[in-house]
Amino acid sequence: MTSARITIDRDFTIADVPRRLFGSFVEHMGRCVYTGIYEPGHPQADERGFRRDVLELVREMGPTVVRYPGGNFVSGYRWEDGVGPVEDRPVRIDGAWHTIETNAFGLHEFVDWSREADVEIMQAINLGTRGVEEARALVEYANHPGGTYWSDLRRRNGAADPFDIKLWCLGNELDGPWQIGHKTAAEYGRLAQETAKAMKLVDDSIELVAVGSSNRGMPTFGSWEHTVLTHAYDEVDYISMHAYYQEHDGDAESFVAEAVEMDAFIEGVIATVDAVKAAGKHTRQVDISFDEWNVWYQSGLDTDDQPHQVSKTWREHPRLIEDTYSVTDAVVVGTFLNSLLRHGDRVRIANQAQLVNVIAPIRSEQGGSAWRQTSFWPFERMARLARGRILLLAVTASQISTKRYGDVDSIDAAATFDEETGRVVLFVANRSLDSANDLTVDLRGFGDLRIANAETLTIPEGGDRHTANLESAPDTVHMVPLTAAEVVDGAVRATLPPLSWSVIELG
Ligand code: AHR
Repeated sequence: MTSARITIDRDFTIADVPRRLFGSFVEHMGRCVYTGIYEPGHPQADERGFRRDVLELVREMGPTVVRYPGGNFVSGYRWEDGVGPVEDRPVRIDGAWHTIETNAFGLHEFVDWSREADVEIMQAINLGTRGVEEARALVEYANHPGGTYWSDLRRRNGAADPFDIKLWCLGNELDGPWQIGHKTAAEYGRLAQETAKAMKLVDDSIELVAVGSSNRGMPTFGSWEHTVLTHAYDEVDYISMHAYYQEHDGDAESFVAEAVEMDAFIEGVIATVDAVKAAGKHTRQVDISFDEWNVWYQSGLDTDDQPHQVSKTWREHPRLIEDTYSVTDAVVVGTFLNSLLRHGDRVRIANQAQLVNVIAPIRSEQGGSAWRQTSFWPFERMARLARGRILLLAVTASQISTKRYGDVDSIDAAATFDEETGRVVLFVANRSLDSANDLTVDLRGFGDLRIANAETLTIPEGGDRHTANLESAPDTVHMVPLTAAEVVDGAVRATLPPLSWSVIELG
């Protein structure tokens, strides 16, 4: 048995819970859009082709903001191709994913869908092959009320009211040599600065995200953020982070500790942003948009999954990177959510990539059913329950030794306190693969709290750490009651099952 003690005090808080932390991502990639959220002719499709079964799961999961339309896709995309009468829209090749793009789904469809899903739009623009002119035209098209060329075109295309899109990404992963229109940091920094300026001249209420590093292992990590922000600090509001993690060579101990790496990545970017702020004598704060994160088994890709590198066939919505997530993956996703919440004073936006089918918590089959992957559960619980203030945790825990990260705490935790409801919610993972954790949580200044609900995601009976939810058995892994949890003398005492991510609600 491992053990841990957490001390929390009502007065020691980090920040308000940024509701945009529970974001997701819809890219024109694989089957995320086509046969994912959109499938005309499906028995569950509405008159616009939106799959009602998928929409229901999206609403249940509760993302607050959805990034669109890419990803690598956006760096070769012409947004004008996706507006106007569908029969007039051009069919194009998408070089990023070696796919045929029919443009049957575009901006108006996404706006309609996001209203149904009740999510804010985070719109990415193409700064790979395009620039200032196309970006400011898109802001005018989307946000200007009318009486000008682009806003009147939107009105003629059926939308009298502006879309009022507040959040915009200035391109995608332009530090990556794989990106269409890859740039040096100086090239991108200047382009981002001028594009941001021009977009804000059209609508000064928008918020802009500059492209940061595609992952912490990029050779330009650090210097990229420094150079880009040295140019564009005054014009942008956020710098992006992207990271995908996976288990390497069966080393589950290190994988379950992967949030240590995410913590270090976030803290490195904060340090760089603040160095530029200090050197430039800026007073305004640039924050972080962690707008792509997830578990993604990149080293397991088969040739079909890398059409841009190997496949010679051009296809519509090919099956790409449809990872099946296990119990282990879901626990790791839970620790990533904990890490993002712990850094909620600076990470103000985060998007799990992606929403449906493509490394996604929701899966769907063409003409078939839709179901929740294991990773659906930690996202759904935290998006629903993390309210109010993020609490500062003092953690002492027995250690677990890992190959990649040395000794790490046996638990990973985050917590929130909602003054309005008086509710404290604790999110805590037990990283040990084989030992239960004897957890004590000292609660200071909250008065008389009782356990309102306690649940855990762990290995189901008869399963193992690889157990997943499949189309044929979609509910095998879900949240179950955490029975061994009680409040004794003002402290929570709980026994966390091995390899688990738990939620303890106190009220
Ligand atoms: O989410 C899948 C891909 O990962 C995105 O298109 C790209 O931005 C990232 O490399």
